[in-house]
Amino acid sequence: MTRTPIMAGNWKMNLNHIDAVGLVQKLAWTLADEGYSREKCEAVVVPPFTDIRSVQTLIEGDKLPLKHGAQDVSQHDDGAYTGEISASMLAKLDCRYVVVGHSERREYHAETDEIVNAKAIKALEKGLTPIICVGEGLELRKQGQQVNHTVGQVKGALAGIPGDDVASLVIAYEPIWAIGTGEVATPEDAQEVCGAIRAAVRELYDDRVADSVRIQYGGSVKSSNVVDIMAQPDVDGCLVGGASLKAEEFAKIVLFYQR
Ligand code: PGA
Repeated sequence: MTRTPIMAGNWKMNLNHIDAVGLVQKLAWTLADEGYSREKCEAVVVPPFTDIRSVQTLIEGDKLPLKHGAQDVSQHDDGAYTGEISASMLAKLDCRYVVVGHSERREYHAETDEIVNAKAIKALEKGLTPIICVGEGLELRKQGQQVNHTVGQVKGALAGIPGDDVASLVIAYEPIWAIGTGEVATPEDAQEVCGAIRAAVRELYDDRVADSVRIQYGGSVKSSNVVDIMAQPDVDGCLVGGASLKAEEFAKIVLFYQR
């Protein structure tokens, strides 16, 4: 079973649509110069909503070897939900991926496992691949609860989702204490929880689903630590925040397989 590695750059609330075009162009040029092959690693950019149309037009117009996604999606289809963006709107912009349940959404927008589950289901219904984020905070890590807590979140997020869908989606393990702090989990920390997530998927579904689902690590990933993280057997990619805002740095992360 070979899982294609996936590096997704979550820009968070950074870069307007003009900056976005500059970054995507530079990223594509850098990857082309370095002989990037999309079979070796999938490269995904996840800009703010207001940038998506510009990024889509650029990727499709210039046939760039990149995919794009969104940072969040509504759990509702349409209607009176001021400020929300629906899965069908994102699908219409050819988004392939959508991040759901990022710890910043859970913390600042009170997203529960039930909401994350509803969003993942809505994304799948419209043909988008959810990147479901899970991970423990510092207190739980200090208590040694990282596996219990994170596996619980995974079970909540996957409730009622059939195996065929789970096989194709992405789970991102992001220990909250390592996000944007420069405090990167050790490769062994990443493997411990990513391995436990895959084991939980195996228990909930079967070998085929567990061997297909891709599991990312996220939290202060940089070109200098990506190779060791990717060497772990249950880590299939990274969800990258800060380091995805610099084309050369993100390109080096995507090209980890050349080192
Ligand atoms: P970071 O963010 O790479 O800046 O730590 C990761 C994330 O929140 O997805």
